[in-house]
Amino acid sequence: MPIYAMHRHAKRWENPDAFDPTRFAPEREAAIHRYQYLPFGAGPRICIGMAFSDDRATAMLAALLQKARFAPAPGREPYPLARVTLLPRDGLPLKVQLR
Ligand code: HEM
Repeated sequence: MPIYAMHRHAKRWENPDAFDPTRFAPEREAAIHRYQYLPFGAGPRICIGMAFSDDRATAMLAALLQKARFAPAPGREPYPLARVTLLPRDGLPLKVQLR
C-alpha cells in the first residue's frame, strides 16, 4: 500500500504537501474518507497500539511545548525519506527556544 503517496494525493487532499494540522479539525475531519488516511492501517489488522500511541504522543507534545518552542534549524529543512515508515533523511535538527 503506497501510504506516502495516498497521504499526499492531490485528488484527495487540499494543498497536500503543506503541514496543516487544521485539516484534521473536527469540522473538516468528516470529509476525510476512512481509507484515505492510514497512519495505523485499517481493518482487522489495524495497529493495536494506535490509542496508546495517540495518547502518549499528545502527552509528550503537550509537555514539551509547555517548556519550549521548536522551529526548523535555519538551512536544515527536513527531507522526507519513505521507508517502512517515513523518516527525516538527515535527522531533524531543530532550533529550541526555552519559554
Ligand atoms: C506512532 C506509533 C505507531 C504507528 C505509526 C504504528 C503503525 C502501525 C501500522 C501502519 C500497522 C499495520 C496495520 C495494517 O496492517 O493495516 C501496525 C500494526 C501493528 N502495530 Fe503499530 N504503530 C505504532 C505504535 C504501536 C505500538 C505502541 C504498539 C504496541 C504497543 C503497536 C503494535 C502493533 C501490532 C501488534 C501490529 C500488528 C497488528 C496485526 O497485524 O494484527 N504499534 N502499526
